[in-house]
Amino acid sequence: MNTSELQKLKQRYNIVGNYAGLNRALDVAMQVAPTDLSVLIIGESGVGKEIIPRVIHDNSPRRREKYFAINCGSIPEGTIDSELFGHEKGAFTGAIGESEGYFGVANKGTIFLDEVGELPIATQARLLRVLETGEYIRVGGQEIRKTDVRIVAATNINMRKAISEGRFREDLYYRLNTIPIQMPPLRDRGNDIVLLFRLFAMQMAEKYRIPKVTLTEDAKKVLLKYKWPGNVRQLKNITEQMSVLSETRELDAEHLKHYIPVDPESTQLATINRPGRHSYESEREILYKILYELRGNVSDLRRDLNNLREQLNDTHKLNETIAYQNNKFIEAEATQLPTKTNEPHPIANLAHPSAIEVEAEEIKNEPESLNLNDIGRKLVEKALERNGGNRKKAAQELGISDRTLYRRIKQYGLDKK
Ligand SMILES: Nc1ncnc2c1ncn2[C@@H]1O[C@H](COP(=O)(O)OP(=O)(O)O)[C@@H](O)[C@H]1O
Ligand SMILES: [Mg+2]
Repeated sequence: MNTSELQKLKQRYNIVGNYAGLNRALDVAMQVAPTDLSVLIIGESGVGKEIIPRVIHDNSPRRREKYFAINCGSIPEGTIDSELFGHEKGAFTGAIGESEGYFGVANKGTIFLDEVGELPIATQARLLRVLETGEYIRVGGQEIRKTDVRIVAATNINMRKAISEGRFREDLYYRLNTIPIQMPPLRDRGNDIVLLFRLFAMQMAEKYRIPKVTLTEDAKKVLLKYKWPGNVRQLKNITEQMSVLSETRELDAEHLKHYIPVDPESTQLATINRPGRHSYESEREILYKILYELRGNVSDLRRDLNNLREQLNDTHKLNETIAYQNNKFIEAEATQLPTKTNEPHPIANLAHPSAIEVEAEEIKNEPESLNLNDIGRKLVEKALERNGGNRKKAAQELGISDRTLYRRIKQYGLDKK
C-alpha cells in the first residue's frame, strides 16, 4: 500500500497514528483481505485490535455478506457451543426451538472471534473442525452441516503459555495463526500518543459541547513517558475525564498528575484518593451540577404538583356538581351507597404536602452551607466564563434551555455585572 492509500484507509476508519508498527498492521490487513486466510491479531488490551477484522471484512469479497464480532470471553461456557454452532430442538433444558448459531447464520461472511484464548477446550475442537473442513454439527444434532466462514481471531493473552499449560490446542493455534498481525502497545508509538490525545479531545468537545482541552509541551512529555497499560482505550478514557472534570482547558504536567495514575499498573482515575485543590474543585463542581439538576427536578415536580392540584380542584368542583345532580335525580339509590365524599380520594392525598414537596421545602430552607442559590449562580457563572460569555453555549453545557438560562442570569443578578 502506498502512503496515500494508507492515509485514505485511516480516514475511512478514523484511525490515527503514523507509527511504523501500526502502518504495518494495516498494510498486512489490506493484503490478506481478498484471501480467505485465517488471521490472528495479537496485542495487549486496548491497542485497537477490533479495527483489523472490520478492515479485512470490508475489503474482502465477503463485504456484502454478514459480519459478526463475538467475544469468546463473555459467553458462558455452558452456552458457547450452541451460540456458535446452533442447537437442535430439545438439545438441552431450555432449548425450546432450534437455533442456527453464528456459523450457520454467517455463511459466506466473516466471524471475528475476540479473546479467542478464552474458548473452552471442547469448543476449540469444534472450531478446529469447522476451520479445517467447513463442517460442523449442531449441539444435540447428528446432521453434518456445511458453512463457508472466514475467521479473524484476536487475543491479548500469551498463547504459547496457554498452550504449554494445556488451555489451548496447539493445532488450533497454528490453524488460526496463518497470518499473525501484531498491534503495537501505545507506549511504543511515540508522537502518535499526542495525535490520539488530540483526536479524543476533539471527540469529547463535541460529545459534551465544551471547548476542547489542550496540552502544554511539558504535559505532552508526561504522556510520552507514561506506560499506558490500558493502551489507546485508557488514553481515550483519561482524555474524557480531563475534558469533563478539568477547570482549565490547557493542561500542564501538574494538572495531568490528577488524571494519570502514579502506579502504571493502575487504570483508576488518579484524583480519587488524592487531595489537592484541583481535584477538590472538580469534584465540587460535579456535586454542584448534580445538586443543580436535582433542584431543577424538584422545581419541575413542584410545578407539576401545583398543576395537578388545580386540576384536582376543578375535578372536585365538577364531581360535586355531578354528585349534586345525581343526588337530585336518584336520591333513593344514593342514600344506600356509602357516602364517598368524606373518604379521601387516593389522588386527593396530593392536596396535602407530599414527600416530594416536603423535600422541596427543605431544599428551599436549606442551611447556609448548602445555599443552592449560590451553587446555581456559581455554575451559571462558570459556564458563561468557559464559553466566553456565549449564553447559547453555556445553556447547552448546563443542559438547560436558553430561556431558563436567561431567567437564571436575571435571578442571580449576573446581567448587572
Ligand atoms: N489508532 C487508533 N486511532 C483511533 N482510535 C483508536 C486507535 N486504536 C484504538 N482506538 C480506539 O481505542 C479503543 C479501544 O480499541 P479496541 O479495538 O476496542 O481495542 P482492543 O480490542 O485491542 O482491546 C476504541 O474506542 C478504538 O476506537
Ligand atoms: Mg477488544
